[in-house]
Amino acid sequence: MSQSGINMTEESIRKTLSQINDPDLGRDIVSLGFVKKIEIAKEKVGVTIELTTPACPVKDQMKAQAESLLTELGATEVEVTMTAQVVGQNNPKMRAVLPAVKNTIAVASGKGGVGKSTVATNLASALAREGSSVGFLDADIYGPSAPLMFGLDGKRPDMYETSDGDRKLVPLVAHGVKVMSIGFLMDADQAVIWRGPMAAGALRQFMTDVDWGDLDYLIFDMPPGTGDIQLTLSQTIPLTGAVIVTTPQELALADARKGLRMFERVQVPVFGIIENMSYFIAPDTGTEYDIFSRGGGKRAADELGVPFLGEIPLTIETRKAGDDGMAIVLKQPDSPQADAFMLVARNVAAAVSTRNMTAEQTQPEIIL
Ligand SMILES: Nc1ncnc2c1ncn2[C@@H]1O[C@H](COP(=O)(O)OP(=O)(O)O)[C@@H](O)[C@H]1O
Ligand SMILES: [Mg+2]
Repeated sequence: MSQSGINMTEESIRKTLSQINDPDLGRDIVSLGFVKKIEIAKEKVGVTIELTTPACPVKDQMKAQAESLLTELGATEVEVTMTAQVVGQNNPKMRAVLPAVKNTIAVASGKGGVGKSTVATNLASALAREGSSVGFLDADIYGPSAPLMFGLDGKRPDMYETSDGDRKLVPLVAHGVKVMSIGFLMDADQAVIWRGPMAAGALRQFMTDVDWGDLDYLIFDMPPGTGDIQLTLSQTIPLTGAVIVTTPQELALADARKGLRMFERVQVPVFGIIENMSYFIAPDTGTEYDIFSRGGGKRAADELGVPFLGEIPLTIETRKAGDDGMAIVLKQPDSPQADAFMLVARNVAAAVSTRNMTAEQTQPEIIL
């Protein structure tokens, strides 16, 4: 038996792994309870590390760190398994409305056409790609685009009646994401009816009528703007938090600021700002062009004191992927534009986890 083998005890392994810190939570992974299983067979070591989201931005880094620390300790063979159990918000009011949904994230924008739906569908698809169970609720009464962007155009969801006589809608599934859209239920000219003050109430009803099943994340594509409908919606649906999509132009940024204030008013935490169409990637050369004033989103985030969640390039492939019914993160998973969306999605997942693990759980008044 070699000298090094002597060090292999569960205690020494825990001690060495406690050098690994979770940067978001600011604590080591052992005291956080992330080290779930330790197996020692002579000089072979197997450990299982369970994170709070499979979309953890530093997952690979932590795995590599654990491997090298255990090798240093004297293990000749190391197997580090990374798993995840998404943490949910401890909010009884949310449980009452969406009992098996752990987190709801609103994707909002001060104005239309900034790429809110493109970002929202890619966020949902990215989280699903990382292994989470994800739902997508398209509540954009002004322009529901989930049927097109998830390739579900013309489809109708099934409906069934519960033993209590409640009608339940069954979401359609596209590329592993459960999708429900206001667009499945209305014809184009029906939109007019929804524009009245009843819209928020009808949307809330619509949301609770859906049988989502167990979900780690429910992504909510909000109607653009900061008017009454948006305000009522953000107040009445139980939200873990919101992200705001903007483009770099000053006008869009001014609207993003309004969006942020709206969520603050109703005590919905804003996880941060995403800048879409930050720069253009030329399809032929790959050269980046800053068409608009790139960096405006970051400046606005700094000024407003919220995190900046990342920049998304403007590319032809991203637009085509949306039109073809499959988000770019799935259609071209290894492209630079997919990488940009993945980074944003991981930042959002980390922000959600951090909030659930640390922040005082504020419980805004939710009207049921
Ligand atoms: N990053 C991007 N690259 C290329 N096209 C984009 C990008 N973001 C959005 N688009 C395109 O811009 C149009 C508007 O985007 P959409 O996501 O529908 O915006 P919104 O939901 O804010 O109205 C769509 O045709 C979409 O494909
Ligand atoms: Mg949209």
